[in-house]
Amino acid sequence: MTDTPRSADTLRSTEVDLAVERLRAGGVVAIPTETVYGLAAVADDLGAIARVYELKGRPTSHPLIVHVADIERAEGWAVLSDASAALLADACWPGPLTLLVPRGRRVPDAVTGGRPTVGIRVPAHPLSTSLLERLGGALVAPSANRYGRVSPTTADHVLDDLGEVLDPARDLVLDGGPCPVGVESTIVDCTVDPPQVLRPGGIPTEHVERLLGAPLAPSSGPSRAAGMTVSHYAPACRVVPVDDHASAVREVERYRIAGRAVDLLDRTGDLVEAARMLYTDLREADRRGLDVLVVVRPAAEGLGHALRDRLSKAAADGGADGPDLSRGPTSPGG
Ligand code: TXA
Ligand code: MG
Repeated sequence: MTDTPRSADTLRSTEVDLAVERLRAGGVVAIPTETVYGLAAVADDLGAIARVYELKGRPTSHPLIVHVADIERAEGWAVLSDASAALLADACWPGPLTLLVPRGRRVPDAVTGGRPTVGIRVPAHPLSTSLLERLGGALVAPSANRYGRVSPTTADHVLDDLGEVLDPARDLVLDGGPCPVGVESTIVDCTVDPPQVLRPGGIPTEHVERLLGAPLAPSSGPSRAAGMTVSHYAPACRVVPVDDHASAVREVERYRIAGRAVDLLDRTGDLVEAARMLYTDLREADRRGLDVLVVVRPAAEGLGHALRDRLSKAAADGGADGPDLSRGPTSPGG
């Protein structure tokens, strides 16, 4: 374990009522969802929203996803009249799907960075559902990590990243155990025809295509999802994705000979487990002081899309796939 900040014990709670109280009083609460932990604020509390950006160290031009308890409560926050959006919301919520649709009248500019669209989803986690139901209204919640770093899938991860900056007197970390999906929601832009996947995630692209009965538009060109910078989801150690186990063994050997602290990660046998454990594995590599983690990439199907996306973003910080042994032993990460 990493050193847990002293405020951790006073920040951590399993009490949904306390979380509601803190949010109503303008505090920021880290909440468990089925994907990753989010750093939540009441979606029209401008002061709390400003603190979410500040605590994460995130540019205010990167918009936040709005979370509601169910599709009815999306009213006023998002316009779900588009046929594809309505169909996907109906089929996938609650669940790891974010829809990009025209924003509703209640959404402040601070949430979307002034954009005419909003990302909205209904999370599937008993604590976030209960929280949203008791609170009424909506919550904004970006992943509860420092900007550019690995998303948190446990309350400990949140406390490791933000324990020092959250205020025990007004904020909270609602501990709902490890997130069952482990990678962020799939983001589908329904403002274009055909809809386009902006971020592969917990709901496989193939599943969305089956529901729509048509292929999605390829995600090409500069991504319309703001903040999808190439280097993202990055641990401090260098991540080297390779295509098969034999190549991974060879890469590990090359780094070992070069004197680097290196290990191999291959969870291609069980992609559900691979997704659930991905961010823990990346954080663990840093905790162990590894210079390099060689990771076997899953095939590009099902959850494999999201895993390949996160691995290439984690790797972008450390360079291309091949071992650049001229680099220093560690890189600072984004
Ligand atoms: O699973 C998830 O989606 C998690 C949990 C907490 O719900 N949330 C999450 O939020 O991953 P965040 O902020 O870390 O990632 C959302 C991404 C960001 O890159 C953001 O810029 C983009 O979605 N995004 C959100 N609203 C957008 C909008 N209106 N237009 C373009 N991009 C948007
Ligand atoms: Mg994030």
